[in-house]
Amino acid sequence: MTGAGRGVGPAVPAVEWEAHADLVVVGGGVAGLSAARAAARRGLAVLVLQKGPMQQGGGSEAASEDTSTAFAQGGVAVARAGHDTSAAHADDTCDAGAGLCDRSAVESIVADGPRALTWLVESGAEFDRGPDGDYAATREGGHRVRRILHAHGDATGAEVQRALDAACGPVESGIARVIGASVLRVCTDHRGVTGVLAETADGHGVVHAPSVLLATGGLGRLYSVSTNPAAATGDGLALALDAGAQAADLEFVQFHPTALYVPGAQGRSPLVSEAVRGEGGVLVDARGRSVTDGVHPMGDLAPRDVVARAIASRMRETGAAHVFLDARAVEGFAARFPTITASCRRIGIVPAADRIPVAPAAHFSCGGVVTDVHGRTRVPGLFAAGEVARTGLHGGNRLASNSLLEGLVVGERAGLAAVGRAAMSPEVLDAAFRLAPAAPRERVQEMMTAHCSVTRSADGLAAAAAGITTAARPAIVRTRPGAEDAALTIAATAVLTAAELRTETRGCHTRDDHPEARPEWARSIVFEQGGGAMPRPVLPDSPTGGPAMDFRLDTAGADR
Ligand code: SIN
Repeated sequence: MTGAGRGVGPAVPAVEWEAHADLVVVGGGVAGLSAARAAARRGLAVLVLQKGPMQQGGGSEAASEDTSTAFAQGGVAVARAGHDTSAAHADDTCDAGAGLCDRSAVESIVADGPRALTWLVESGAEFDRGPDGDYAATREGGHRVRRILHAHGDATGAEVQRALDAACGPVESGIARVIGASVLRVCTDHRGVTGVLAETADGHGVVHAPSVLLATGGLGRLYSVSTNPAAATGDGLALALDAGAQAADLEFVQFHPTALYVPGAQGRSPLVSEAVRGEGGVLVDARGRSVTDGVHPMGDLAPRDVVARAIASRMRETGAAHVFLDARAVEGFAARFPTITASCRRIGIVPAADRIPVAPAAHFSCGGVVTDVHGRTRVPGLFAAGEVARTGLHGGNRLASNSLLEGLVVGERAGLAAVGRAAMSPEVLDAAFRLAPAAPRERVQEMMTAHCSVTRSADGLAAAAAGITTAARPAIVRTRPGAEDAALTIAATAVLTAAELRTETRGCHTRDDHPEARPEWARSIVFEQGGGAMPRPVLPDSPTGGPAMDFRLDTAGADR
């Protein structure tokens, strides 16, 4: 970067540095680094901008742990020839997705899994192998066969992150990486993306670039307790809406059924992988009664929306703050699940001897920025991949371990898609700060946790919307905390609006007051940016306020 010492655009009095890149990647998890690596190998100058850990008061994550990737446990779902088929993987994905998956997107992404895995292994990742030398595979909720590949037992995400960090680290990789950089705005002109406005330790600056990939992860920090790192504040969603992209399926916030229950804890809650149930762990209440008996033919390995609902309902029924995962019969638990064992030990639980206290926690945003299977949004040059994106793979409920897969496949494709724009040399001419609504994040988290968790109702959703709206004020987005508060407010508004509109129960959206799925709602709810920088649902006018049958995603203007 060069210190420029001059302003760019009328509303930015002092831009302190400027840089140029062929591709700016925002976020350093599996999707961002897969894209960076693919693009750099094609000769693009890639700049990765990553927030890094909060400086103070924002959590305890170490520098390498601001991505959700680093915390993924179970693995990567891949249909391996001779064991499984892509069609079977696609079927399980669509069954979990509750009627909202885009089958062609699902087929495209899962079919590319084996090749992407090979690419990852060639990039340095090591996966666990069985005695026969073949990959060891386990099962998780919603998978009818063992197709979850894992690393170091339950540290798959950490291994993927380690391998990609190493592959993207060296100077000769062609990738520059700045940790401690917050992107405040994606800049565009009438032809599409021109770059980004960002804040780093050197102050405010702009990167001129024809392509920007948002790989910022999810929005778990909408909730008081989440399996996500502190950086998961919905930033990419807010940036994309501001730049003119659409978002969809945001009401489908997936709660992982089994986060470790720690009394009074707030912030990131350690995961207890579904793979524990895949290896024989069972869910019981304090009296030892099965939690999922009679709920679903797949029992404890039902899709995770079903299991999370069953746990939440048992907790309500018994007044308990958690249920138990009994894994005492799982042989060699500590060796197979070293990360979980360490988390349990920190609260005095030994899984070989004790039942593990678990409760659902916010885990994954199934919806996000609308893209095609190459990560392209409808804004030329703006890409999104990984959890921030909505490709149509997850529908109303993501199948376990499909997220690392999606990040790998779509991230790489987005990096390659950016090659087509590399010859352009746009300049950021308007880098004005955004004005966006922002409520204190504690208020947002309190409202979302109380009223928009595993189950929802019209009254609760309205109370949450009012609680956030009355606390929100227009703010100029100049800093990381400001950008995060605005993103959380915008994300919460969209999630609440969609959850209120969707008067049915489908996938991981459960309405106590509308317990059945309604066929007329077998469609996505799409958002664009509306007045006051608030998300606005793109619903056709209807006298009843209900959905219309011809409601479709608009990707017509996508940069293909
Ligand atoms: C888990 O290991 O249970 C989490 C995997 C995922 O979220 O896909």
